[in-house]
Amino acid sequence: MKRELKQTKDGSYTWFLPELQEHYHSVHGALQESSHVFIEAGLRHWWNLHGNQIPHILEVGLGSGLNLGLSLEEAHARQQSICYTALEPFPPEVSELALIQKDQHWAQTLPQPLYLNPGAWRKAHLLEFCWLQKSLTEWHQEGCSFDLIYFDAFAPEKQAELWTEEVFSMLYERAKPGAVWVSYCAKGAVKRALKAAGWHVEALPGPPGKREMTRAIKQA
Ligand SMILES: C[S@@+](CC[C@H](N)C(=O)[O-])C[C@H]1O[C@@H](n2cnc3c(N)ncnc32)[C@H](O)[C@@H]1O
Repeated sequence: MKRELKQTKDGSYTWFLPELQEHYHSVHGALQESSHVFIEAGLRHWWNLHGNQIPHILEVGLGSGLNLGLSLEEAHARQQSICYTALEPFPPEVSELALIQKDQHWAQTLPQPLYLNPGAWRKAHLLEFCWLQKSLTEWHQEGCSFDLIYFDAFAPEKQAELWTEEVFSMLYERAKPGAVWVSYCAKGAVKRALKAAGWHVEALPGPPGKREMTRAIKQA
């Protein structure tokens, strides 16, 4: 899969995927988008709700590792641990990762190489991490439940099969009571599918360049 490195408006980098005609992040600012959606509205919000507990985070679409890197930065700032499972069926090449992570503060504490031993748990300071080379639609992991879900799939126009009531119901089943789901996407059809799957849905102000984002809660 060919990925083209592009600079976004906040100076951070993303990839463009010609095959899908899609960017990995907002062209208005990759770093701003991830910080706003996944860290501010996701991880910080979860810690505000649940105090000093250790969240088990599920990321759908690990890609460059940006959301993991920012989560680890937050964990280091608070001296709190995180447990992180990431789905990524199409891991980028080591050389592509080296370019997108070059000189980026968020990449400093990432486990390296990022994509190693799929399915194995790796430990680092304040982190337990497992990468699964699996599609969300083919993932049948039993016995694991999640506190926080970073839903960072490509847009519904590009990957409609990942944004369905069926998928959101499956995630609801695997979410702990009080769990939080966050995404950059604010489409009405996605919010309706989440609600139909049982999630309590809120629209929040989006990152620069986007009016809204979505957060959903599994009410306890
Ligand atoms: C919008 S990008 C986000 C990437 C990543 N979070 C980042 O910050 O670089 C979507 C990611 O989902 C991955 N993906 C594509 N199909 C998937 C599937 N069926 N299940 C899980 N992830 C998928 C892509 O390979 C890509 O890395």
